[in-house]
Amino acid sequence: VTKNEPLRLLLIGFGNVGCQFARILTVEREQFPGLDDLNVTVVGITTLSRGSLENPEGIDLRRALLEIETAGRFQAQNPDFSSRGSADAASELEYDVLVELSTLSIDRRGEPACSYVRTALGRGRHVVTANKGPIAFAYNELRALARAHNCILLHESVVMDGAPVFDLAHFGMRGCRVLEVDGILNSTSNFVLSRMELGEHPDDAVRIAQARGFAEADPRHDLEGWDSAAKICVLANVLLDGDLTPLEVEREGILALSAKELRTARQEKKRVKLVCRAWREDGQVRAAVKLKKLSDSHPFSRIKESGGILRIATDLMGPIIVQQEAPTLYDTAYGVLNDLLLLGIKTRPSAEATPN
Ligand SMILES: NC(=O)c1ccc[n+]([C@@H]2O[C@H](COP(=O)([O-])OP(=O)(O)OC[C@H]3O[C@@H](n4cnc5c(N)ncnc54)[C@H](OP(=O)(O)O)[C@@H]3O)[C@@H](O)[C@H]2O)c1
Repeated sequence: VTKNEPLRLLLIGFGNVGCQFARILTVEREQFPGLDDLNVTVVGITTLSRGSLENPEGIDLRRALLEIETAGRFQAQNPDFSSRGSADAASELEYDVLVELSTLSIDRRGEPACSYVRTALGRGRHVVTANKGPIAFAYNELRALARAHNCILLHESVVMDGAPVFDLAHFGMRGCRVLEVDGILNSTSNFVLSRMELGEHPDDAVRIAQARGFAEADPRHDLEGWDSAAKICVLANVLLDGDLTPLEVEREGILALSAKELRTARQEKKRVKLVCRAWREDGQVRAAVKLKKLSDSHPFSRIKESGGILRIATDLMGPIIVQQEAPTLYDTAYGVLNDLLLLGIKTRPSAEATPN
């Protein structure tokens, strides 16, 4: 068996996903023998307000986790402690892969994450991002940059966490032209709708989603439909060759919906769902996020709580449905690990150069 090439990682962002990723690589590593081929060293971690760590030989990840868990930030006594910020780390540190795990920004059109990714690709470094911002706001530009610098941009976990959406389309549907995608893509809003049907107050449901780590840092992004808009935009750009930003997606959120409307729908044997859709129309790619009243027998009606579903219609085959039940932070961290395993294979000296 050919071992994967060693990869030095710079992590930008060390919140829910970053910490889960680090836990899997350290304290939980022995539980996951499937990761044996993974050959990574974290040489840098930066955050917005919790400090940075760097060590070209590899950061002590157990200590990094312990400091975040006990003190809420990296400690100045840590020999790996650094005052370098994220932008400087992206442009100055020696790493092979930027792992972008910072927060989605809508107001700043995906920044500063887009710039971190741009810097890394411009230096010929690969990028794995769980943050949808760069792919939703700048996919075509970033893909061209990656190609120009012979490096790879991967983003499996930006839609449905670690469920194989992009891998499925790229490796399992060769030769098919995607015509339309639709689905339920935002865990928090589906969770709130499910709980409201049972009589729970939406604020309580949001608090639970935050405690479980799947709500966006700013939950308005979930409830106003922005996270859904960013995800359908990613699918439109990557799978349908669109050139949209979330600002061009017709968007509706769930905030205006009352518990009474949900109960009435139930009496009619229907459910209200926040449905994302991207499609081709008159030579253009369009995308929308809308509240839909669906019959009980519709496959999307079966999606409870934090689950998700995506239907991919193509010219040759399908529709194919990917469904996800109760994803956790393991699913998101897995999406990142899967991308790194793929990078480890693609960057083997014997592998054909197949960037993106
Ligand atoms: N949680 C999930 O289930 C899930 C699923 C799929 C995708 N994602 C995506 O994965 C990313 C990370 O999610 P998360 O749940 O780990 O978020 P989080 O817990 O809010 O952590 C975000 C991390 O990014 C850092 N950060 C924020 N703004 C930054 C900036 N401008 N520059 C550098 N670092 C910055 C934060 O710094 P501080 O620590 O100083 O605040 C924090 O360490 C997000 O883009 C999210 O949309 C999450």
